[in-house]
Amino acid sequence: MTALNENYLKLPGSYLFSTIAKRVAAYKEENPGRPVISLGIGDVSRPLVPAVVEALHKASDEMGRAETFRGYGPEQGYAFLREAILKHDYLDRGIQLSADEIFVSDGAKSDVANFQELFDASSKVALQDPVYPVYLDTNVMAGRTGAFENGRFGGIVYLPCTEENNFTPQLPDQHADLVYLCSPNNPTGSAMTRAELKKWVDWAAANNSIILYDSAYEAFITQREVPHSIYEIPGAEKVAVEFRSFSKTAGFTGTRCAYTVVPKALQVMDKAGKPHSLNALWLRRQTTKFNGVPYVVQRAAEAVFSPEGQTQIREVIAGYQQNAQVILKALQSAGLTAFGGVNAPYIWLKTPKGVDSWAFFDKLLTGAQVVGTPGVGFGSCGEGYFRLTAFNTPELTQEAARRISAMTF
Ligand code: MLT
Repeated sequence: MTALNENYLKLPGSYLFSTIAKRVAAYKEENPGRPVISLGIGDVSRPLVPAVVEALHKASDEMGRAETFRGYGPEQGYAFLREAILKHDYLDRGIQLSADEIFVSDGAKSDVANFQELFDASSKVALQDPVYPVYLDTNVMAGRTGAFENGRFGGIVYLPCTEENNFTPQLPDQHADLVYLCSPNNPTGSAMTRAELKKWVDWAAANNSIILYDSAYEAFITQREVPHSIYEIPGAEKVAVEFRSFSKTAGFTGTRCAYTVVPKALQVMDKAGKPHSLNALWLRRQTTKFNGVPYVVQRAAEAVFSPEGQTQIREVIAGYQQNAQVILKALQSAGLTAFGGVNAPYIWLKTPKGVDSWAFFDKLLTGAQVVGTPGVGFGSCGEGYFRLTAFNTPELTQEAARRISAMTF
């Protein structure tokens, strides 16, 4: 008989956002006359900017001509895109890296999900609670956890992020080989300052740990003390991998392009204590399992870094930031306490009167026809919280805000 990877059986029945989509679809079917507004999944609403569309057209034409047609590209990404990323996101910020430390991919979700493959099955994993479910679920699939009991998986080092610690992960009191940090944070919308992140980099260096740093939302940072990259912290190149994405920065959720930085200074030991380059191992993994991002998409991503592209995406991001303020104001006028929304497109609200996250989901859906994400779906510390996103259009965000303000909680 073919045996199953039974680790999959430890997982909840479906991915959080699929569960929500099903519940919303059922509500819509039963209530066709009540238009629902989604502030749920973090998906963008504004179209690709003109500079990106122009690059897509041009690259598509190239693909249709024999002289400029391209087949397989380099698995790591074309040099034109890696060089543009290097210059704009790192060198111009005073961070010394090289283009062969950047790996272009089809999404931060897949990279952050796949990266754990490079580590031993016995590696101890630490992650924030609440957490973006992908970090946790992929480690469950890989067999690094025990069973799911009382809202938590055995074997994981949970880093509670609560109102008391300002939703900032505190150093653990035990060893962890891998630490997932997400800043600006999904789901809480909080962001770590340079000083807070430095504590983690120093801790990882002292404990031979590796930080898997997800900064997919860095374009939403507004405060100077919040670093855009972990490599702004001295020594981070020896302990951290960084995941970045064009999804939320430039509206690529459906176009798919992201990148991962694996510095050459980053090494892991084998059981005999011999060091190995993670950069070389990730390249080995990618060349075996991945054929690269389409040429047209990489040209589109390159256009994000052109002067026009930058002006255009900044305007889109400013629109989402404005939405966040609209939502925060509405919550305040409804008497609710909310966090985030300043350095991130996520708003993390405290449910009133101790109502649980799913009950609040139902209340908002049936009372205001607004969809959000129950905090408990991100972990047990998310119980009693609820996430709203700033990614809808200004019109629908204002309408959702109006409906929420009119509710009694
Ligand atoms: C979310 O809503 O948390 C995002 O859509 C996550 C993602 O980018 O996969």
